Amino acid sequence: MRQLIAGNWKMFGRLADIAGFARATRNAPAGVDLLICPPFTLLERFAAALAGGAVALGGQDCHPSAEGAHTGDIAAPMLAEAGAAYVILGHSERRIDHGESNAIVRAKTEAAIAAGLIPIVCVGETEAEREVGEAEHVVRSQLRHSLPSGFSGVVAYEPVWAIGTGCTPTEDDVAAMHAAIRAALLDQLGAGGAKILILYGGSVKPGNAASLLALPEVGGALVGGASLQAEAFLAIASAAPLG
Ligand code: PGA
Repeated sequence: MRQLIAGNWKMFGRLADIAGFARATRNAPAGVDLLICPPFTLLERFAAALAGGAVALGGQDCHPSAEGAHTGDIAAPMLAEAGAAYVILGHSERRIDHGESNAIVRAKTEAAIAAGLIPIVCVGETEAEREVGEAEHVVRSQLRHSLPSGFSGVVAYEPVWAIGTGCTPTEDDVAAMHAAIRAALLDQLGAGGAKILILYGGSVKPGNAASLLALPEVGGALVGGASLQAEAFLAIASAAPLG
């Protein structure tokens, strides 16, 4: 499977950033799939700037309903209409800032799939959970309750304590967690579980990308801070083993 290098711009980025970023990604490496998930307001202009290129677009969240009286929310069909092919769901910043439960993440995932989007469902333990040896248990439980039956899409393992901190788990810990996630996916989804890409996210940078992306069952990266600069994002993409 080709690796996926996904950039999560979070609440960063303005219209003025689009043209330069899009121009730089014209030189994106082949053999790896690239995705940028900017704030909603940039999607449509980004789609125009990236048209004909190799970089896909995604949203950072969607509502479980296709439409309705939900002030401030965005529905999955609206993301698709604005040019998104993917949507990040259940990111820890949404689970924490917006109190999103696994059940909400599952409902959003179903809405995304119904709208033809590829969901990227995020899971990951807190530092306290890792310290007491509960990391795999927490992640397995998030998978069991966040993924709908027959799920197809992408899973991102993002230890909460590694996001935006410059800290990453050891290579052995990443490999062990990705193996545990693969086993859980096979258990939950049967043969379909073998086809799910499992991204690693949390302080991925040009300097550590090659070693993280080479680990077994790592199918790409979900990159926050380092995706804001095209140069760093492309350096991470260049570090991916070619599919
Ligand atoms: P980071 O964020 O790369 O800035 O640690 C990753 C993420 O939250 O997806």
